[in-house]
Amino acid sequence: MAAREINVRALREGLAQALTEVQSGRRLIVTQHRQKIAAVVPIKDLLLLQRAKESSPMSIHTLFNHAGGSAKTTTVRELSYQLSKMGFKVLAVDLDSQANLSEWLGFGDVPREHTVLPTMLDRKPLEVHPQYNAHGFDLIPANLNLVDIEDRLATPEIFQFRNALRDVAREHQYDFVFIDASPSGAKLSQQACIAADSIICPVMPTVKGHTSLVTLNSLIDRINPLNPGLKVSMYLLTNLNPTSTMNVHFQGELRARIEELGVPLFSEGIRRRETVYEAASYMMQPVTSLERKTKIHGLKEAQEELQQMAEFVLGQLQVGAEQGVTL
Ligand SMILES: Nc1ncnc2c1ncn2[C@@H]1O[C@H](COP(=O)(O)OP(=O)(O)O)[C@@H](O)[C@H]1O
Ligand SMILES: [Mg+2]
Repeated sequence: MAAREINVRALREGLAQALTEVQSGRRLIVTQHRQKIAAVVPIKDLLLLQRAKESSPMSIHTLFNHAGGSAKTTTVRELSYQLSKMGFKVLAVDLDSQANLSEWLGFGDVPREHTVLPTMLDRKPLEVHPQYNAHGFDLIPANLNLVDIEDRLATPEIFQFRNALRDVAREHQYDFVFIDASPSGAKLSQQACIAADSIICPVMPTVKGHTSLVTLNSLIDRINPLNPGLKVSMYLLTNLNPTSTMNVHFQGELRARIEELGVPLFSEGIRRRETVYEAASYMMQPVTSLERKTKIHGLKEAQEELQQMAEFVLGQLQVGAEQGVTL
């Protein structure tokens, strides 16, 4: 049953009826001045959420694919936002010197001390600064200086970031950490893979997307001596375009190839919807946080797909998504 938004005044005036709805399984999102401030959920949902939190140790996932434009950054933004809305504690780490993730969340001109640089290059602990929590999840932002790592990161330091990230994640009790990896930059992408428990790979149905699967697997083979057990935990189909014959052809190719690999795939995928994604980046908000009444063409459909994707990812990360804990 879909969640329903209700503002504080309507809730106060219609409390008895609202509670009857909740008893029959409906979740209510309470809004005040257009902000979502609380949720009224059936008790079974609360218990599920508590159990899910108790049984889920922190895990770190890098969104990775060498092919630029495959929606790594977009997926980190949307997953972090949605999982945090579901009640999980999430940290997103911008490990791309292009700093798109930081900018799209409203953080340009970030000082060096707030990025991963002091940890990677100067052996400082990793710090989470609360001012970067604008959307319900924490962010370690990036800036252009991250390219320094390519020249300056010395071999003995390669586990510094992995260790510091695990320390800070345990200290803050995150449920999930999502790292936005750089498509270029050998050392930066290596760092993102050394730090992770798994790779989540968004892939688009194009020639580039198809070849990226091979590149990815050889990269993982190279990382495995440094991070044994690292593997792709799932593939997510992105940028689907049912009106393009080539796109549809490569969707088929990718589905077949990924099935051969035996790795879970979010097969329904995310449709290509330029207006929606451009608007979200421009408005510095996740797509799933945009108000439906903004009347952006395709917004509702995009939000539904992204919600399905978040539920799929949760399910794969074994945190009971299929039990319907989403709000
Ligand atoms: N489903 C989609 N439909 C249309 N544009 C998208 C979609 N997903 C992402 N984009 C846009 O495509 C561009 C590349 O996405 P991005 O997340 O930056 O990829 P990557 O991080 O893999 O390079 C961005 O401008 C983004 O807003
Ligand atoms: Mg990116």
